[in-house]
Amino acid sequence: MQIAIDGPAGSGKTSVARALAQHFQCLLVNTGAMYRAVALGLMRRLKLSDIQIEIRPDERVLLNGDDVTEQLYTPEIDELASQVAARPEVREFLIAQQRALARDRAVVMEGRDIGSVVLPHADVKLYLDASPEERARRRCHERPNQPYEEILAQMRARDARDGVGFGRLQIAPDTIVIRTDGRTLDDVIAEAVRAVEAALQRRSTSGKLNG
Ligand code: DC
Repeated sequence: MQIAIDGPAGSGKTSVARALAQHFQCLLVNTGAMYRAVALGLMRRLKLSDIQIEIRPDERVLLNGDDVTEQLYTPEIDELASQVAARPEVREFLIAQQRALARDRAVVMEGRDIGSVVLPHADVKLYLDASPEERARRRCHERPNQPYEEILAQMRARDARDGVGFGRLQIAPDTIVIRTDGRTLDDVIAEAVRAVEAALQRRSTSGKLNG
């Protein structure tokens, strides 16, 4: 079974993906963390072909064997990962690894291009969305030392860049769009679980599941 979750930064997709992976007993793959790890590797002057990324079941991220989880979620890596993700050779490098992770195993994979490019035949495709203001407010809770206005400006700049090219943030026709403005996480998770259950029900009566 393949569940694809896409959406812009701060849309809640990581929390929803985590809950779905637990509920449906799937491997969780956070592709944003992979782009962040590549950004850190390139910052450390590693060659792209020498970069090895491992995401552990407990979500710790290893870069060439070194646990870098805490270093991936800083304003500097937010910026750098967004730039690095616009390079075709980086996308090619990571998309091949993401497809390999989803081969022959049940996954919940989250990112920007999962339903459109990485797993176009996913059993369920979800797209989580929220206004930039709402997403900036959420990010503010995670980063209390950064002013709201600054976070909002960075969010808008990142939206503009993250949505350009490579099928990123393109909503495939068979996608279920969930708007999350003003809703609790539990409420959104419950809707996502229902959407996956309904899609799986339809698939099991009409055809075969992936993985
Ligand atoms: O989801 P995130 O904020 O951790 O992602 C980090 C960066 O990587 C973000 O700028 C968008 C980019 N990204 C991408 O281009 N494609 C993906 N599948 C996942 C993330």
